[in-house]
Amino acid sequence: MKFLLDLDDKEYEGKTALVRVDFNVNIKNGYIGEDYRIRMSIPTIEYLIKRNCKVILISHLGRPIGNDINYSLRPVANRLSEILTKTQVRFINNSIGNEVEKEIKRLPSDGVLLLENLRFYKEEELNDPEFSKKLASLADIYINDAFSTSHRKHSSTYGASTLFDIRLGGFNLKKEIEYLTMIKENPIRPFMIVIGGVKIKDKIGALENLLPKADKVLIGGAAAYTFLKSKGLKTGNSIIDYDHLKWVGHSLEKYGEKILLPSDHIVSSSTESTNTIYCKNEIPEDMIGLDIGTETIQNYSNQIGSNRKGTVFWNGPMGFFEKDVFSNGTINIAKSMALTYWRGSKTLIGGGDTLEAMKKAGVLENEVSHVSTGGGATLRYLAGDKMPGLLVLK
Ligand code: 3PG
Repeated sequence: MKFLLDLDDKEYEGKTALVRVDFNVNIKNGYIGEDYRIRMSIPTIEYLIKRNCKVILISHLGRPIGNDINYSLRPVANRLSEILTKTQVRFINNSIGNEVEKEIKRLPSDGVLLLENLRFYKEEELNDPEFSKKLASLADIYINDAFSTSHRKHSSTYGASTLFDIRLGGFNLKKEIEYLTMIKENPIRPFMIVIGGVKIKDKIGALENLLPKADKVLIGGAAAYTFLKSKGLKTGNSIIDYDHLKWVGHSLEKYGEKILLPSDHIVSSSTESTNTIYCKNEIPEDMIGLDIGTETIQNYSNQIGSNRKGTVFWNGPMGFFEKDVFSNGTINIAKSMALTYWRGSKTLIGGGDTLEAMKKAGVLENEVSHVSTGGGATLRYLAGDKMPGLLVLK
């Protein structure tokens, strides 16, 4: 696979680059929430601008049905203008066609043009050859800096890419691959995994790959209740993933010695209620486990904090952290991650929720070795699944 630095500077001069980024961020009433994915694309964009290369940015946003203006990428263009103060950032409400071609011609040699949400065209997700051709005809060089969308075989991640002689990975994509490959293939020991969140299904592939390599696995969040249930403990009304109970049982049989489960919980009768009860070991009937308890927090924090000079990978919050009364576990895990980073461990976090949790705890992005931009893509990569957007770069 080739990356930006593998191409001579002169090859960029006067060219047009089609850059697949992932600007799939939360936008409400025109306001952007977490803009981490936008910021992570800046090194690649600036690298191209400095080499007098026109930058054509393409991305999807959400899963719109048809041409829904609520999913327009225009607010992202405004955000880019605020970041790239010395650059002309333009936006056009099409992704292909004459108007786009004219706008590219008018663009200065170091200008940036963001095209409209690719998913306004149904052809994008179908990897339609004609649509791919039209996208590819817009530029001379193709760059993929959207690791988080590389598990999709769409026109912008795959079909269009195949039509370029020069196709490269951007800086963000390179960083993602380097860190995640380290975890997947050769994690620096001791290697610890912290798994939370709700859906076990999405994590099974990654866990199957990582469990044999891990020295310790800490489980929290709703995922923990399926593990506790499998051990025969009472879990009240907590979320149980019955479809994967058997898989969980096998994992406990095989790797039980390194898997740690919560020994106490914060429970409530509903996620709406703010009345919480502390309980040890088992969860009373009619109650839902919504956070790990103080003893578990202490134990998990000690484990993470003492993982000196090793690797810790964290995916998924420890509880229903969106609500303050259930956020204590997640916040403390985030702080322990920062502590172990400062003590010399490699720390990686993956998944949108985990980044939000980290922010809620006041942990900065530079207090983690790497924050993955990917949700599904990160787990798929760790599972060893085929990633069409990466394969096509090879
Ligand atoms: C993501 O947010 O995980 C990526 O942008 C991919 O989005 P998708 O799941 O809608 O393809």
